[in-house]
Amino acid sequence: MAEPKKLFIKTYGCQMNVYDSERMAESLGGRGYVETKDAEEADMILLNTCHIREKAAEKVYSELGRLKALKTAKPDLKIGVAGCVAQAEGEEIMRRQPAVDLVVGPQSYHRLPEMEAQVRSGEKSLDTDFPQEDKFAALKSRPKAARAPSAFLTVQEGCDKFCAFCVVPYTRGAETSRPVARILEEARELVDRGVREITLLGQNVNAFHGAGEDGSEKTLADLIWKLNEINGLARIRFTTSHPNDMTDDLIDAHGACEKLMPYLHLPVQSGSDRILKRMNRSHTAESYLRVIERIRAARPDILMSGDFIVGFPEETEEDFQATLALIEAVKYGYAYSFKYSTRPGTPAAERPQVDPNEADERLQRIQALITDQQQQIQNEMVGRDLSVLVEKTGRNPGQMVGKSEYLHAVHIDNSDAQIGDIVPVRITEAKRNSLAALRRK
Ligand code: SAH
Ligand code: SF4
Ligand code: F3S
Repeated sequence: MAEPKKLFIKTYGCQMNVYDSERMAESLGGRGYVETKDAEEADMILLNTCHIREKAAEKVYSELGRLKALKTAKPDLKIGVAGCVAQAEGEEIMRRQPAVDLVVGPQSYHRLPEMEAQVRSGEKSLDTDFPQEDKFAALKSRPKAARAPSAFLTVQEGCDKFCAFCVVPYTRGAETSRPVARILEEARELVDRGVREITLLGQNVNAFHGAGEDGSEKTLADLIWKLNEINGLARIRFTTSHPNDMTDDLIDAHGACEKLMPYLHLPVQSGSDRILKRMNRSHTAESYLRVIERIRAARPDILMSGDFIVGFPEETEEDFQATLALIEAVKYGYAYSFKYSTRPGTPAAERPQVDPNEADERLQRIQALITDQQQQIQNEMVGRDLSVLVEKTGRNPGQMVGKSEYLHAVHIDNSDAQIGDIVPVRITEAKRNSLAALRRK
C-alpha cells in the first residue's frame, strides 16, 4: 500500500474557517491524505485565510514567503490558499507568490479533490466561482473518528447586509441557508461521534431560513427546537447574530429551550446613531438596547457579548463617547474591539479617515472599559453553582478544564471526570482569563 500523503492546514479568521478546514481535510482524505501538525513533513499545505482586516490578509503573504523556502527544499510540496483572501484576491495571489499552486474560494471547496489532482499533475488550479450546486452535500463524506465534545456546524453562510466597512458579503457571497434535514443529519452524526455541544455557525446565523422537512421555510428558533430533541446532545449555541434579526421566537427560545445556552454574541459596532447610519447598520443604539431588554426579560441571566469598531471614518470624540456609554449600559461578559481597517472595494474605504493615533488611543480606552466589565462579570460568578462541559486535562494532576454555560473557561481541581462529561461545580475564584471551581457532590 502506498504511504498516505500528509496534509497541513493552517486556519486563520473566524469559526466558520475552523469548520471549513475540517471539511477540507475530510474531503482530501478521499484523495489519500492524512493530517499532520508538522508543516515540514507535509506534501500539501493549505492556508485557510481571513480578509476581514488588513493585518489578517498581510499575514498570509508573509506566511507564503516562509513556505516558499520550504518548497525550494522540497519541490514536490504543493501550496494552496483557501478562504476569504483567496476569494478576494484570486489570481493575484499566484502573481504575488508564484510558489502557490492552488487558490480556492469558500464556495468551491467541494471541488478540492479535482483541484488537488490537477496540481499533482503539475498544473496550477484556481476556482473562486459562486457555483449553484450544494457544496455541503458534496463535502459530506465524514470519517467516523471520535470528536472533541464541542463542535461547529455551519447552517447559514454569506451576508446581504453590506455594512460599509465589511468584506464578508463579497468573500462569502449572498446569504444562503442549508436545509433542516441535512443539518439534523450532520448533528446526529456528530453526537454519535461523541459531541455534546454544537455551535451553529453563520455570518448572519439568526437570519437562517432553511427549508424544513415539510417543505416550508424554518427559522433558527425552529431549528434549535429540533436539535433540542436529539438525545445525547446537551448544549446548543449559535453565532453570529445581527440585532435586526432577533425575532420573537428566537428570544422566546432563550427563555424556554433547555439546551440553548445563556450566551449571546450580538455585535453592535458603535453606540453613535450617526456612525451606525454611515456604517449602513440599519439599527440605532436605542433599538439595540431594546432588543437586549427583551432578551433579558426572557432569560435574565444571559451573558451578552459584542463587537466594536473604533476609528470608523468621520468618528468624532462625541461619537466614541456614545459607544462607551452603550457599553456601560449593556454590561458585556465578553466584547471584541477592533481599530477600523480600510478594506478595498467597501464603501467606507473612500471616506475621510480618522487620524491613526486618535484611533489607537480610542482602542486603548474602549479595551480598558471592556476588560473591567469582563472582570466584574467573572467576579460575580464566584460562589455560583454552574455546570462545566469538560474539554481537556489541566496543568495540575487531577485538574480538568472546560466551559461553563456562559462560555467562561473553568478549571476544576477535583473533577474526577472524563472529557465530554458535564460536571456540577461551585465557582471558587475568578482569575484573569478563567474561573476556578470545585466539583459539587
Ligand atoms: N458576521 C459577523 C461579523 C463578521 S466580522 C457580524 O455580522 O457581526 C467580525 C467583526 O470584525 C465584526 O463584527 C466587526 O466588528 C469587525 N470588522 C469587520 N470589518 C472590519 C473592518 N473593516 N475593520 C475593523 N473591524 C472590522
Ligand atoms: Fe459584515 Fe456582519 Fe455587516 Fe454582514 S452584517 S456586512 S457580515 S458586519
Ligand atoms: Fe475572516 Fe472570512 Fe471569517 S473574512 S472573519 S474568514 S468570513
